[in-house]
Amino acid sequence: MIRIAVENLEPGMVLAASIPHTKHPGRALLAAGYVLDPKTIAKLPEYGVKGVWINHPGFDFLDAQVASGVPESRTRLYHDIKRNFTALANKTAGAFDLQFYKELISRLIEELVKNKDHAVWAERILEEPEELFSHSANVAYLVMILGMSLRNYISHERKYVDRRLAQDLTNLGIGAMLHDIGKIKLPAELRRSHVLDHHEDEEAYRSHAAQGYQLLRGRLEATASGIILHHHQRYDGNGFPEPTRPHAGRHPEPLRGDRIHVFARIVAVANVLDGMMAICDRKGLPKVAALAALQSAELRGMFDPVVFAAAVRSIPPFPVGTCVTLSDGREAVVIDLNAKRPCQPVVQILKPGAQVQDPSGEEINLAEPEAPSITHENRRPVDKYLYKPPDVITRHIAESYQDEADQATTACDDLLEAGAPSGGSPAAQPEA
Ligand SMILES: [Fe+2]
Repeated sequence: MIRIAVENLEPGMVLAASIPHTKHPGRALLAAGYVLDPKTIAKLPEYGVKGVWINHPGFDFLDAQVASGVPESRTRLYHDIKRNFTALANKTAGAFDLQFYKELISRLIEELVKNKDHAVWAERILEEPEELFSHSANVAYLVMILGMSLRNYISHERKYVDRRLAQDLTNLGIGAMLHDIGKIKLPAELRRSHVLDHHEDEEAYRSHAAQGYQLLRGRLEATASGIILHHHQRYDGNGFPEPTRPHAGRHPEPLRGDRIHVFARIVAVANVLDGMMAICDRKGLPKVAALAALQSAELRGMFDPVVFAAAVRSIPPFPVGTCVTLSDGREAVVIDLNAKRPCQPVVQILKPGAQVQDPSGEEINLAEPEAPSITHENRRPVDKYLYKPPDVITRHIAESYQDEADQATTACDDLLEAGAPSGGSPAAQPEA
């Protein structure tokens, strides 16, 4: 589901959650599942409705915009990327400009599938274990979602580049899709593994970043190939590859902070997030377990705090439409998110035997004092994974979903002022 501002609604969009009636608390103006028509859309502002949750539009728009020009030999690549994007789309949610989102995804897929330099390597990953291709496509999709809410921050971090070019996310997506290409040089047993599978100390595993970079250096834009080299470079200076060039006669220093290109910092977060979600899926654990683990003190230091804040905001533990059980035993469905306290969304109680779309149940904001808490998601226990984002994150999450780009800039400025870890030197990439 995604949240769309009323002025961007289009006829045919389907409500993913009921719209509360502003004049009659506890009642719904429109129920989930309602198909919007022009007359209804025009009337929503009269009821004080500013935005609504709609079902994710899927990726069929790509067929008209991209697929017609895809060569026959690449249709499998096109469909496999589209399939992976579709599987992940409903796990991410937020408010974004739908038109911009469609253009962004179309441009990325077009580049990946039609541009021979990129398609050949994306197809090469397709020959590898399914896990490697899915992970690559997932990371490409996640960085698009993160990149959309970080556009102002990206401009800020790419200050030597024209603003319009700085905000072009295509190379971010290409680098993300190919970030693990170096794994094709690893022994078979390491190709499907992820850094979270505890291979971080193995020299052979660590070599995939540099090997991938060597493979594609000069064949991609520097911002995309830099992602391949630095996607395991941690914000705190740990990670790999190790620096090899001494600086001013001193021991080589690791890249850290803003000396790592902002694209690589974004991919670093998406890479670990997808790995964490895959591990939880394998173990039958809910997504909230992955998000809770991501916020452990040990992992948090790995990331750019502004990018990390965007990830916390963009990936809700309980998306709209999730069925949950509350600590008082009642069943409910999530109807709105809570940016500051993601594990305490707004829910609507389901009367016994009622359908998820039934709008008549009581609404409860789980962040209110004395409100019950979530104990199960789709009958899986989740109470031990409920988290509250660290203060540094919550301070920078604004009240409204309408101002996400501005929030990121504010977060960036505040964090810089507060002395967030930073190399303070020119960025490592050629553009700086
Ligand atoms: Fe990697």
